Amino acid sequence: MSDLTFEELLEIKRDGHTYTAAQIDRIVLGYADGEMPEYQMSAWLMAAYINGLNADETVWLTDAMVRSGRTIDLSSIPGIKVDKHSTGGVADTTTLVLAPLVAACGVPVAKMSGRGLGHTGGTLDKLESIPGFRIQLEPEDFLAQVRDIGVAVMAQSPDIDPADKMMYALRDVTATVPSIPLIVGSIISKKIAGGADAIVLDVKVGSGAFMKTEEQARTLASELTRVGRALGRDVVCIMSDMDQPLGMAVGNSLEVIEAIETLRGEGPAALTELCYTFGSRMLTLGGVATDDNIARGMLKEAIETGAGLAVFERWIEAQGGNPQVARDTSLLPLSPYSRDVTVGHEGYISGFDTEGVGRAAMLLGAGRATKDDDIDLGAGLMLHVRVGDRVHVDTPLATLYAANERLLDAGEERLMSAFRVSVTSVVAPPLFHEL
Ligand code: URA
Ligand code: CA
Repeated sequence: MSDLTFEELLEIKRDGHTYTAAQIDRIVLGYADGEMPEYQMSAWLMAAYINGLNADETVWLTDAMVRSGRTIDLSSIPGIKVDKHSTGGVADTTTLVLAPLVAACGVPVAKMSGRGLGHTGGTLDKLESIPGFRIQLEPEDFLAQVRDIGVAVMAQSPDIDPADKMMYALRDVTATVPSIPLIVGSIISKKIAGGADAIVLDVKVGSGAFMKTEEQARTLASELTRVGRALGRDVVCIMSDMDQPLGMAVGNSLEVIEAIETLRGEGPAALTELCYTFGSRMLTLGGVATDDNIARGMLKEAIETGAGLAVFERWIEAQGGNPQVARDTSLLPLSPYSRDVTVGHEGYISGFDTEGVGRAAMLLGAGRATKDDDIDLGAGLMLHVRVGDRVHVDTPLATLYAANERLLDAGEERLMSAFRVSVTSVVAPPLFHEL
């Protein structure tokens, strides 16, 4: 352990110098143990944000974060445990589709998920819109459920990677979220502490992502891969588009409905394709398919035969939720007030401010402005158009759902400034930027 004071450790990064592994340990573990106060960690995060962490420092940061708490041991579950993570997007209900679908194909899914914050959605909030669903599981029940039905998703318990939870909460309010070394430490440490052997990462690029440019996203992807491998995990990154929302549903129960439709083979094309692409990597990494084509065929079959939806029902039931939602989505909450909004222009949809679409859903009640806000699980919006679509003045842009007219007004106003119409036709952005 380093014997420098926290103040002396801060001076090192303030002045642009580099740390030893012991010094990084002292900072991360000192903060997680409550020895270093929040004001010093806030200053450290800003110094790290501005002056960066080098290749070794980023690996040491990640490793120290893993050691800040307990780790989950998945060795009692047979097979290679593959986890999937997204850097955060809008209308991205992939996990709700992939978890049961991949499990139906023989790869166990033991996943810890988070809540939405800001304009991005979170798997736990979506699951909580299913009546009765429990997101808190005892570790032994979590493992038993994965062994029995192949899938369990729970809230990250507070004693796993506490450094990440504590640092993320400060980053969120100190303008230090979009730092590549800090994002890498946060994501990889969580996945390793959660027991993953292999990790498939969806690095989002575009107006709805933390990384707005392809160059930033490529650097993040290569760092995630490098650090994961340095710590002995197999990591695959795929860069996918966030210049428009992935699916058509933005909001918690609405995204559950969209996931169920996708498991029935009736989901939106881009979301379905993303599920095939990520699902096939998970099956090959999990060792149940020898190549992506075979894996893709298995996933298609699990959708066509209803095997994926059947696992979804068993999973919901195992965690106390009403499995009937898979057959009758009217059992899910939907906010009582709705409104169709029209495009108001003649031409072609040329782009979205995707973060703005997420913010519109937040204003309708679907997201939190701060960590402790309540959300309306039945609020949100269904988009009806995508980039490249020809539109008229009265073409429906979206249907909004909220608890009252005032919230509908606020959501509508935000949504109307989050898309663009051009007079000439435009080519839709590719779904994948790099595989
Ligand atoms: N997602 C995470 O889990 N951590 C980050 O720092 C950013 C996105
Ligand atoms: Ca999401």
